[in-house]
Amino acid sequence: MKILLGVIGYPIEQSKSPLMHNYWLKDQAIDGHYQAFEVQPLELKEAVTGMKVLGLSGWNVTIPFKEAIIPLLDQIDPAAKAIGAVNTVVVQGGQLIGKNTDGLGFVQSLIEKRSIQQIKQSSILIIGAGGAAKGIYYALSQLSPMTIRVTNRTFERAASLVENMNNNELNVAITTQEAQQKLSHFDIIINTTSVGMFPEIDHLPIDVSEIKQGALAVDIIYNPLKTRFLRKASENGADTLNGVGMFVHQGALAFKEWTGKKPNTEKAIKMIVKDQG
Ligand code: ATR
Repeated sequence: MKILLGVIGYPIEQSKSPLMHNYWLKDQAIDGHYQAFEVQPLELKEAVTGMKVLGLSGWNVTIPFKEAIIPLLDQIDPAAKAIGAVNTVVVQGGQLIGKNTDGLGFVQSLIEKRSIQQIKQSSILIIGAGGAAKGIYYALSQLSPMTIRVTNRTFERAASLVENMNNNELNVAITTQEAQQKLSHFDIIINTTSVGMFPEIDHLPIDVSEIKQGALAVDIIYNPLKTRFLRKASENGADTLNGVGMFVHQGALAFKEWTGKKPNTEKAIKMIVKDQG
């Protein structure tokens, strides 16, 4: 039987998810289709009912619905509950189950650059305190008691992220000024904000001229592939990782939930890079 999958968001035309998931469906010889659906913000409830009655096996959820969809679902898994956002819905026995694969997808992409052991021993700075930062904070903090600092333009949001999600008193929120002063202490610096995303490609979330040699700068943005943050970090002797890996790995985890199959992430990364390039 043909399986139907999709993504809901507003706007949605920029999404690369259909390209990636339809490639994986074909590659795995699964008879199915993945469709992008633009849903008006006030019509989310109707859209969710529609997806269910039309028989979709599951779908992704993107901006601006990751939080708003929660009360419309039957179950929320522990990660999505802790993060407070859903990016993947799985339909099981008529029940709509909300999951979040963003954080784990991030960690899986980070493994391309650093081993789990190295990650555990790293001093980490997360820039930003929105939904993406929460997912990443949650997944990293699952690894072990490691030191994570969170900084944000609006300090109170960073403070409440750490307070609400904390499982380790070593993790604290710091001001942008403090993050800037202590930049050379960090082994991994992660930009989760939209600063530097197309078309605002000249903007920087933090000044990286004092970054530690050999530190890893990570941007979850993948348009452009090399943000100004990554270019500057690289010019100052840091290693870099862009957001393509996180995007592909969060998608692969969702694909596995829906189909039981593990898709080819390496080929998908190459395909997205080519598409962006
Ligand atoms: P997402 O779910 O993608 O993380 P979000 O919840 O809207 O999106 O969060 C966006 C993040 O980017 C926030 O940390 C935001 O900072 P504020 O909490 O101060 O708004 C950050 N951000 C967005 N534009 C920014 C800018 N121009 N300078 C600094 N931070 C910015």
